[in-house]
Amino acid sequence: MCGILGYVGPRAAAPLLLEGLRRLEYRGYDSAGLALLHGGAVTVTRRIGPVTSLAEAVDPAAAGTTGLGHTRWATHGRVTEANAHPHLDGAERIAVVHNGIIENHAAIRALLEGEGVRFRSDTDTEVLPHLIRKFYQGDPLEAVRAALHAVQGTYGIAVLFADHPGVVIAARNGSPLVVGKGDGETFIASDPQAIAGFTRHVVYLEDREIVRLTAEGWELTRLDGAAVTHTVEVLAEELVWSDKGEFHHHMLKEIHEQPESLRRCLSGRVVPEEGGARLGGFDLTNREIATISRVAVVGCGTSYHAGVVGTAAMEQLARLPAYAEVASEFRYRNPVVDPHALFLAVSQSGETADTLGAVREIQLKGGRVMGVVNAVGSSIARQCGRGVYVHSGPEIAVASTKAFTSQVAALLVAALMFGRTRHLGAEEGRRFGEDLLAVPKLVEAYLAHPGPIAQAVELLSEAPFVFFFGRGVSQAVAMEGALKLKEVAYLPCMAYPAAEMKHGPIALIDASTPVVAVVPTDGMRAKTLSNVQEVRARGARTILVHAEGDEDAPALADISIPVPRTRSALVSPLLTVLPLQLIAYQVGIALGRNIDRPRNLAKSVTVE
Ligand code: M6R
Repeated sequence: MCGILGYVGPRAAAPLLLEGLRRLEYRGYDSAGLALLHGGAVTVTRRIGPVTSLAEAVDPAAAGTTGLGHTRWATHGRVTEANAHPHLDGAERIAVVHNGIIENHAAIRALLEGEGVRFRSDTDTEVLPHLIRKFYQGDPLEAVRAALHAVQGTYGIAVLFADHPGVVIAARNGSPLVVGKGDGETFIASDPQAIAGFTRHVVYLEDREIVRLTAEGWELTRLDGAAVTHTVEVLAEELVWSDKGEFHHHMLKEIHEQPESLRRCLSGRVVPEEGGARLGGFDLTNREIATISRVAVVGCGTSYHAGVVGTAAMEQLARLPAYAEVASEFRYRNPVVDPHALFLAVSQSGETADTLGAVREIQLKGGRVMGVVNAVGSSIARQCGRGVYVHSGPEIAVASTKAFTSQVAALLVAALMFGRTRHLGAEEGRRFGEDLLAVPKLVEAYLAHPGPIAQAVELLSEAPFVFFFGRGVSQAVAMEGALKLKEVAYLPCMAYPAAEMKHGPIALIDASTPVVAVVPTDGMRAKTLSNVQEVRARGARTILVHAEGDEDAPALADISIPVPRTRSALVSPLLTVLPLQLIAYQVGIALGRNIDRPRNLAKSVTVE
């Protein structure tokens, strides 16, 4: 979603800001802009469309060593140049970039218009520069502080003043900001990716903190004026920018990175000789594990699907009552939070507003919540304080692929660890651990020979509607496959538990509605194959994802896609999801879609 970048230092700001904005592109946006401070004036350039359009509009030799950049994902107001950031006050002396939503913008706007202020955009953000101007009496920090006291909602903002070259003011409430310290230069960004190429030394702002940046450093206080100190952290190697390499798209590259990302996630955590696993980040004693009353996973989209697999594993391996829930629903239903339960917040970006909101709700109600997060140092990881990193490395494509398999793997490791302490014998634990450790090689083998994906693509590309189904953990894989096909190929499709089809959705089946069935060799295989027969009897053409060596499944498939066999049914999602990722990618290509940045979507969904 929206991205913020600011620079103060000796170098020309424009090229740095444009480079940083390119690194924010993966988050999804529809317009971009720059503000440069030079010669006592602020120059703003904004363009709808990609950062390259903005770069074409900015003079490469533009002077100015203090500046702000922004990528906007429209919330209030259409995608127009006028609505793009930065926004200016009436005198064009104060420029603001903003992520988040100002909830009382209508009331503030009415008040300011009553005082003669003329607005130039439809955005909630524009109230900020006008409000800051209203409170400005020569001290930029105090003006921003006073304005923010009048504001309700969420924000990460960065502000520059024509009267104060070499100064940027930034503040955070609910939208992440990170300060970066270089050699005689200082950065501010909403995402450490934007500055990882310039510096690795950072300080993360907490909510209701405000900072005054200069080339020499920063002064950080709370909005109420109280002093704060934060230690400088060093960005993880994982944040080093990844390019597409030999691949045409980040999505395809990330699909092919899965053997390696899974190895990183599992390495040192599964200990077959003990029949168990260790996740130091959970910081739980065996006694604490033994007294967990249940496990609840919250997350959104793909992360929620990973949670569904994870909770099935918690139930089966650890005999713990477990369920997964979409974070946006959980946070607003006044949930019962059992203090003996363990909540897990699953997120790739660690910035998803609904998941972060759910974490805070759990904490408010006295619950214990830990993160299962990819982005190191992200808001959810920091808010939880404890948890595990899934170590899939930077995921740039909007469609999540390698993060899903790493999230599932991390949750399976957690289930093994809890299981071993609670109900699982050493031998069963050892077998499960071995099966997990075998997965990266099996993924590698599958990706080298992925089967008849092209045939599946031909069938699905022409379909008006596609069904996905499975049972048990394969139902989560079906949901994930359908989500991928929707977001990457824009194909209408639906995932349903296989046996539920006959309770209604089967009415939609005819020869024009292909069905993708996920049928690994598990206890539900025979029943799912019966469900496949039911849709075939009504004319559906079927694509079956099944284990290698299954002799029955191919007979019920128009297109049969075998994946390597694993002993443990709970591990099968790590393999059965692979063809569904490839199918979504290839259908997207066949239909000419924008694979890495599908329409209307953002990588990191920081609004609720
Ligand atoms: O960063 P998160 O894992 O918290 O993001 C959650 C969802 O927004 C995300 O998984 C989304 O559904 C992806 N685009 C799916 O490919």
